Amino acid sequence: MLVVIKDNFEEMSKESAKLLASLVRRKPDCVLGFATGSTPLGMYKELIRLHKEEGLDFSKVITFNLDEYVGLPPSHEQSYHYFMWENLFKHINVDPRHVHIPMGMAENIEEFCLWYEEKIDECGGIDLQILGIGANGHIAFNEPGSSLGSRTRIKTLSDQTCEDNARFFENKDEVPKYAITMGVGTIMQAHELLLMASGVAKADAIKATVEGPIMAKYPATIVQLHEFATVLVDRDAASKLEGSYSGF
Ligand code: PGA
Repeated sequence: MLVVIKDNFEEMSKESAKLLASLVRRKPDCVLGFATGSTPLGMYKELIRLHKEEGLDFSKVITFNLDEYVGLPPSHEQSYHYFMWENLFKHINVDPRHVHIPMGMAENIEEFCLWYEEKIDECGGIDLQILGIGANGHIAFNEPGSSLGSRTRIKTLSDQTCEDNARFFENKDEVPKYAITMGVGTIMQAHELLLMASGVAKADAIKATVEGPIMAKYPATIVQLHEFATVLVDRDAASKLEGSYSGF
């Protein structure tokens, strides 16, 4: 596992966009795994700039997103469909037929999850999976206690996650209680992982992820076993690490 520490959110975002862009240039039909949340927003901004100013071409790229709330239509402002189109896809030349985001309105969720796994395989697997991390060590919606071998499935969101999300909805009853998420095992099958974190609120989770024992209590710790994993963080998120790590 390679640990890269950058000075701040902006530098971390630029570095991640550089890594992703170099893959797209090397392999124009690569399969990218995208994440939502505040962490990748700076990277998405920089990718849009690279597309508009330097002609970075996404026309052959295939994408898979990590997760989506159950019960929210793609048009809902809090859905991850909406997030991805607003913050990235509508600003670049990705082919909408190449975009895959779990369907929170699927009639048969179990069948959908199987289809999603098959579709990833059919596309040759994910070349590069982008990951954020929760302060509690979750990756995607694999909350603490998730099986480290899990596949795409429906998960009940933790009380903490529901409480954190309540501010985005007009009333409490609207807050989704379930999500479809790639499993920890699904994520580990990506050829390369790029886990990002910024800010002191993530420092404990990053310490556990990089230096702690591997355990279901912190699903992110499993990335220690991935052959090609990079943990890209800013100084604040790295502030509790004890080992010495070099930047580049
Ligand atoms: P954040 O969320 O990027 O908004 O901090 C990350 C996560 O919870 O996975």
